[in-house]
Amino acid sequence: MPVIHPDHPRKLLWDAVVIGATIVATIETPLTIVLDYPMEPGMVAYEIIVSAIFLTDVIVNFFTAIQRNKALVTDQREIARSYLRRWFAVDFLSAIPFDVLFSGASLAGASRFLRLLRLTRLLRLLRLAQFIGKLGRKSPIHPSLLRMLHLVFWVLLSEHFIACIWLFLGSGNAAATNAGYAPDDSLRNYLRALYWTTTTIVTIGYGDITPVTNLQTVYAMSIQLLGAALYGFIIGNIASLIANLDAAGAQHREKIERIQAFMMYKKIPLKTQDKVYDYYSYLWDTRRGYDEFLIINDLPSPLKAEVLLFLNRSMIEKVAIFKGASPELVTEIVLNLRPVVFSPGDYVFHKGEVGHNMYFISTGSVDVVSEDDEVYATLEEGNFFGEIALLLSEPRTASIRARDYCDLYTLDKETFDRVLGRHPEFQKQIHELASKRREEMPKRPPKEPTQV
Ligand code: CMP
Repeated sequence: MPVIHPDHPRKLLWDAVVIGATIVATIETPLTIVLDYPMEPGMVAYEIIVSAIFLTDVIVNFFTAIQRNKALVTDQREIARSYLRRWFAVDFLSAIPFDVLFSGASLAGASRFLRLLRLTRLLRLLRLAQFIGKLGRKSPIHPSLLRMLHLVFWVLLSEHFIACIWLFLGSGNAAATNAGYAPDDSLRNYLRALYWTTTTIVTIGYGDITPVTNLQTVYAMSIQLLGAALYGFIIGNIASLIANLDAAGAQHREKIERIQAFMMYKKIPLKTQDKVYDYYSYLWDTRRGYDEFLIINDLPSPLKAEVLLFLNRSMIEKVAIFKGASPELVTEIVLNLRPVVFSPGDYVFHKGEVGHNMYFISTGSVDVVSEDDEVYATLEEGNFFGEIALLLSEPRTASIRARDYCDLYTLDKETFDRVLGRHPEFQKQIHELASKRREEMPKRPPKEPTQV
């Protein structure tokens, strides 16, 4: 059998099936023990299916590559050794259908030990957190929402266990009715136990179901203490998770409110205020408030290049001079690009200024404008400008004005010179284009000096 990749979609699907079976088994196992319902044919079939899933998972695990120090181990002997050392015992014990094997048709006559053997199924819970964490990373759900679902799941499961133990302590007791126990009505018993657990955990405690035996009293006190702590923990966690769900949105709103207050305080003209709001709403619409540069800046260079190549893939595809260029050249440029945004009508620079950068247009378009405000070229997405001043070390030959909101990437002169020095074919290409552009520039006679 070939080695299975742990992230293969079919393996992830299988993991989801195992999680489903684990959840059903962990809910059902304590219930069968405390409610002691008979093993009907349907139950036997269910037990066999769950065991079959768990046993198949044991086999699958012997063939699934493992991650060690972020590297994939695919050697089958190594995989088996590691599995036998770590999870095999847990997985195998939880897969044995003890009741089907030993007790025949009913558990009623089975020894207490045999009944408790079923609890080995709960060992799978140890695996659950690991499984859910892995699937969570692959799911498209917001991490905070996922953490919240995770928390709710464990709280509900704990509640279920607490209720089952309460039932266990109440059953077969002379004054058991006080503990919410009614013989022969399993559903009612379970619901009453769950009701007692909920009212105790959320510190309401109506007192309509009360402990009778010493053991129950001690148990009730422990759950009250645990409940107070658990309740505080849940409320605190849920509040922070909800805040995190829309952290970027909350930050954006806060920023806009601060800017609004500032502009009102400084009596900034309404027209300018509108421009400021438009600018921030553009940033929000296109970036959701994330500063791409800050986020990826901490990454090591190769990973940063991978992320940047992905983020800028549509621009790279459009830039003609990148077509056919070597991947090293594109990577070197992309690694040194800095994002900048211009609003409609903004000048990126003016004619005659000293040039320190060249620009690539990611979205939007710009006009190449003469000193008489004449537009003699329009550059769109995937184009670049500002190369002439860098190549020839002369002032800007024209002004550049944004026509609409423009997402540009700047490349500094130092990197530009370095890249050109290393890639002569690229240098030739840029030179040719720059000369062509210079030739296309309108040759106008110098202006007549104005008579005073
Ligand atoms: P630079 O001189 O550094 O600054 C102005 C930029 O406008 C110039 O570099 C070119 O990138 C660009 N440019 C100048 N003339 C043209 C043209 N005819 N067509 C397109 N772009 C131009």
